[in-house]
Amino acid sequence: MAIASTFYHRFRSVLFQLDPEFSHNLALRLLAIAAQFPFSSKWLNLTSDSEDSRLATDVFGIHFPNPIGIAAGYDKNAFGARSLSLLGVGHVEVGTITLIPQYGNPRPRLFRLIEDDALINSMGFPSAGAAAVARHLSKTRLKPMRSKIGVNIGKGCDTPLETAISDYSGLLQQLHPYADYMTINISSPNTVGLRKLQEREALQHLLVELQKIRAEKCPNMPLLVKLAPDLSLNEVDEALELIIDCGLSGIIATNATVDRTGLKSPDRDQPGGLSGPPLREQSTRIIRHIYQQTNGVIPIIGVGGVDSPDAALEKIRAGASLVQVYTGLVYHGPGLVQAINAGIVREMKTLGAQTITELIGTKT
Ligand code: FNR
Repeated sequence: MAIASTFYHRFRSVLFQLDPEFSHNLALRLLAIAAQFPFSSKWLNLTSDSEDSRLATDVFGIHFPNPIGIAAGYDKNAFGARSLSLLGVGHVEVGTITLIPQYGNPRPRLFRLIEDDALINSMGFPSAGAAAVARHLSKTRLKPMRSKIGVNIGKGCDTPLETAISDYSGLLQQLHPYADYMTINISSPNTVGLRKLQEREALQHLLVELQKIRAEKCPNMPLLVKLAPDLSLNEVDEALELIIDCGLSGIIATNATVDRTGLKSPDRDQPGGLSGPPLREQSTRIIRHIYQQTNGVIPIIGVGGVDSPDAALEKIRAGASLVQVYTGLVYHGPGLVQAINAGIVREMKTLGAQTITELIGTKT
């Protein structure tokens, strides 16, 4: 941890001189190089605290070595799932993947809000498409891996909302063989109209159809829905009712927000989804609400502004079974995952808890 964090803080000042999207891709590539050397992760000492057996947890029928994962958007085309596992994560959610390759929105589409430790992105699902991602994942799957792989899918920008179901169906059919779980993304703010799929009628059609395919092709693969933080609690309740009625396996709360309250950075009015600490409370509030409304029966992956052990514990206490990070990694570097896992173990020791389950939903 110490080596990794000292190294990262030096490296960050260089990375932050570069265009944000370019430096993200560079970081992914460097990690992929590091992954080729068996001793890299040991040298960087990124995994030891994440291997504590007390962190292992079973959620929606899947065994996770620890509760911390990488959120969707970090590895959009599943190039780096194996190298990202070097960071000691329990899972990597790749995507969002679209059925057909697409460029996404024009650049620049990613901004650092340094004064707020935040990012604004309007990426719009740049994707190599389902066939290419299937090839990457089949290679990744050749050797066993500790981290689980989630596959996040979304509608293409040229697909009208009325036929969005066919995109999601095609993606589910093509990619389920490579996924430990899959996520239906209907909550990104950067694909016109996408969030309308969270509304009752559209959501019902989508979920019923996808559940049919799942029952036929991959009944044991968990299927999750990712929600926006900008929904009112009534809208969350409507979505929850359908998610439970249709028998989905879990919820990811939340995606990035369109809210801009309280930001200091000059780039605060850029279009897109805001992520990082300014999103934290909004996403925790939704997690807490879902947990309370469902009495904890539906597993929640909590994401939004997690950049420390305390922030991760706050999500778990609000009701999250697993926690994901993205923006925190950009500001605090790869040692963050292990720092969070170490912090969770410390808290478990203090409370005398044997499993993470004992912490979930304890402060709702
Ligand atoms: C994202 N996020 C995202 N989510 C998703 O479901 N599909 C995606 O393709 C993307 N793409 C994406 C790109 C970039 C640059 C960022 C910063 C974020 C949202 C992400 O998974 C997460 O929900 C939010 O970023 C909130 O978590 P953090 O970043 O505050 O930890």
